[in-house]
This record gives sequence, C-alpha cells and structure tokens, in this order.
Amino acid sequence: MRLLMRYAKEERILHKLSYLPSFTVSSFNQGLMKLTSASHKLSFPKLLQWTNRPADFLDTCTSRYGDIFTVQFPGGKPVTFVSHPKALEDVLTAPLGTFTSGEGNEMFSPLMGNSSIMLLDGKPHQRLRKLIMPPFHGERMRFYGQHICELTEQMMQSWTIGQSFDLRACTENVPVNVLPKVVFGLTEGERSKQLHEKLLALVNLSTSPLIALHLFFPPLRKDLGAWSPWGRLLRLRDEVDQLIYAEIAQRRQQPESERTDILSLLMLTHDEDGEPVSDQELRDQLISLLMAGFDTTSTALTWALYWIHKLPRVREQLLEELDTINDFSDTRAIAQLPYLTATCQETLRIYPSIMLPFLRVAQTPFQMMGDEFSAGSRIWPNIYSAHHRREVYPDPEQFKPERFLERQFSPYEYLPFGGGNRLCVGSAFALFLIKLVLFTILSRYQLTLVDPRPIHPIRHGPGLAPSRALQMMVTGHHHRRSNVAVLT
Ligand code: HEM
Repeated sequence: MRLLMRYAKEERILHKLSYLPSFTVSSFNQGLMKLTSASHKLSFPKLLQWTNRPADFLDTCTSRYGDIFTVQFPGGKPVTFVSHPKALEDVLTAPLGTFTSGEGNEMFSPLMGNSSIMLLDGKPHQRLRKLIMPPFHGERMRFYGQHICELTEQMMQSWTIGQSFDLRACTENVPVNVLPKVVFGLTEGERSKQLHEKLLALVNLSTSPLIALHLFFPPLRKDLGAWSPWGRLLRLRDEVDQLIYAEIAQRRQQPESERTDILSLLMLTHDEDGEPVSDQELRDQLISLLMAGFDTTSTALTWALYWIHKLPRVREQLLEELDTINDFSDTRAIAQLPYLTATCQETLRIYPSIMLPFLRVAQTPFQMMGDEFSAGSRIWPNIYSAHHRREVYPDPEQFKPERFLERQFSPYEYLPFGGGNRLCVGSAFALFLIKLVLFTILSRYQLTLVDPRPIHPIRHGPGLAPSRALQMMVTGHHHRRSNVAVLT
C-alpha cells in the first residue's frame, strides 16, 4: 500500500504540472457522458487542496455535489467517486468480471512481480485469494499474537521515564519487525538476518520519490549500473529474490510441519485443481503482503495513539477495560475487548489508512442506483466520505468509539478494508495486530502527547497522516486499578 500511495501522489503532481486547466468536477445527475462539457473548472487552490488536503477536498465535493460525483483528472479519463451505501453495494457486489482493478497496478510489476495478487484480475486473482486468506484467519492468529506482543515489548525496552519519542518512528517499527516474521517466519540464522535487512532496504528504496518516478515512467527504467537508482533497485530486488528462493528451496527439502508462518502455510496449500503454489507465485505474494501491510498498519497505530492520548475520556475508559485482563498471554480475550475494538474501528473510520481503494474499471455495462453506466466507466469507492456521512455518523469529525457499541454498520457504510472481491486479505490480521500493540503499550506505560494542539490530516498517499510530527513522552508506568496481572 505504501507504494501505491507514493505513486498515486506522483501521478497527481505530474498531471497537475502538465494539464492543470482541464481539471474539472461535476455532479452525478448530469449524466456520466455529459460530464466533461457540463462540468466546470476547478481553481488552482482546489487542485492544491486535492493534492495536500484530500479530506477537505472530498468534504467540499460531497457537500456541493452529493454522494456521487465525477472528477475529470487532468489528462485522464473521468473518475466517478462513490460514497452512497447503495451505490457502494451495487459496485462491490457486482458479478465477477464486471470490474477489473488489478490492471491499474501494472506499474508495480517490477517489484511485486507479474503474479502478485494486486496485479491480477478474474480467475487467477480469485485463485490466489483463496490460497492466501486461510493463513490470515482462525487459529493461526494465536501464534502471530505471541510474536506481536513480544516484539512490542522488545521495542519498549529502550523507553525510559521522561523520554520523548517520535510517534510515527515508533509505530513504523512495529509492522517492520512483525510482518517479516509473520510472513516469512524468519528465525535467528544468517540468511534470515540478511533477508530481513535487505527486505527493509528494498521497501525503503522502492518508496523513494526517485524510484516512484521510474515506476511511473517505464522509459526511465534503464539499468545503468549499480550507481543508478533503477540499477540499485534491480540489484537489491535480485538479492532479496535469491534469498527468498533459497529459503523456499530449503523448506521444500526439509519441511517442518509445525511452522506457522505464511510462507510455510502457502507452500502446503493446493488450489482446486490440486496445483501447488509455484516458487515465483510464492515470492510475488510475500513481497506484495509486506508492501500492502507496512504503512497501512503504522498509520492506523499512529492515529489510534494520538486519539487515545488526545481525549482523556477515551483513554480512561480504555484503561478501565484493559485492566480487566489478568492473563496477558490470552490474546484472543484482548482482541475481543469491546471498547478497544470500538476504538480501533473509530480510528479507521475517521481517517482511514486508505481513503480510496483500488479503482474499479467497468468491463461491461452495469447498474448503479438504478442508472446504467457504460463499459469503461471508472469508479472509485470513496471510503473517506462514506465514513463521514452525517446520516450514518452524527458529528462525523468527532472521535467517538461509542458509535460502534451503539449500533452495527453495514459493509457499505463502514469499509476501511474496501470490499467485494478485493477486500483486504490482511484485515483480520491488521486489526489483531493494532489491538495487541495498543494493549501491550497502554498496559505498561503512561504516555502523554507533548503538544496537544489540534492536528489536521494531510495526504499520506491514499491515506491521511498528521500534519506535523507527533512527539509522545513516557511519563510513568501504568498502574492497574484492580486485579494484579502476572506478566508472562
Ligand atoms: C489498517 C491496516 C490496513 C488497511 C486499512 C488496509 C486496507 C486495504 C484496502 C482498502 C484494500 C483495497 C481493497 C479494495 O480495493 O476494495 C486493501 C487491499 C489489500 N491488502 Fe490491506 N489494509 C491493511 C493492512 C493489510 C495487511 C497487514 C496486509 C497483509 C499483511 C494487507 C494485504 C492486502 C492485500 C494483499 C490487498 C490486495 C487484495 C486483492 O487485491 O485482492 N493489508 N487493503
């Protein structure tokens, strides 16, 4: 996801520079085919708003044009933003084959590989989903839970009372350490150490603006040697691939049935035709999972810790609930805590880690709220605006976990993980991770926001990040109010 975000931003900046005057927006009821002629031009400040403060841009568009509006991006085809629950239902439950969305991610193929779940559509995509989903659900999660708590404990070992730290740097640390362990099952050996280091270097390099430019403009993708950005990326990718393929080969030779990491589980699975996952497919999915999981989870953790420490009533209620847990190793009980769950849900509602998921490109005509749309229409499920509909979420700009305790929302009113046949495969795992990390931190330490001034969300790829760096201070240990817990 981190990659998708970076490149989406590059695309907009480049479009902005070269085609500025043609940026237009118009409401849905003018009819899709008439949009370009009927729509009006946006001012330069509006364009800047879309680039930097997309939440404000979407708020303005929905209040002026409603739940469905079409934007003519500079130099691009019109894109219809959709946040009405019925329209979202129509799009997300359309028969398989009505939309494609993998083809739009082709630019990531040099990194993720041609058989990445993110790039495929139709039957090959469905096949991979069926293979990848099981390791992310059910009993398996218990094993990952222990890793998550241990790694969070390790991270906190460097904290001292009175010390302040950058919240984002801290929350990035968690998925960066947890995901490779869960996905690859990396252990103590030399190859594991190398693979971990090189994977991190690859993620960092691949999200740099320079590499973003190369991915966006295929003619720039020339291997001019190890000193050139693209050459460096290719060499690093090849080194990572060599290590992954060596790991796969060793595990095929010496299978260990008790392993619980996603690589090992995927190696054991077979599709409906009895075919195992090939080495290249394995490699492509593992890299894609890491790319999809890093930034989304760390952004959510950043916002969750911000809101909890910004609003004393939320923090108090949460601590009261967390203190009811006596067995810290019971990760299932922790994950079921209602107020903790509601806090995570509200975090992903108010500023979703991904405001706009994969673009849906219609392959056949389809119906949306009773209107017929032609093949070729481009639909963007607008998660952010769906989460800010006043009819569904009164005072949508206020952080209120209680909403999720008072009523249930439909998958078209609340959809932080997208939906339909592209619903995030890591959704259950991501929520589990966020809850356990919050629990582990809050049960150990008292933290304070160094600067409690209000914060505005700004663009962070397809999501929203705080507009300034957030410093947190470790002000003490957390003292339980009841039942003494035994830390294991
Ligand atoms: C808070 C954390 C996360 C959020 C908010 C999130 C959200 C999303 C969204 C909105 C999509 C697009 C869905 C659509 O277009 O309908 C997506 C896709 C995906 N996510 Fe996540 N995600 C998160 C964490 C993760 C993690 C931890 C992993 C794996 C380790 C992961 C793996 C994927 C994959 C593989 C896809 C592509 C699915 C497909 O193409 O079928 N995500 N995610």
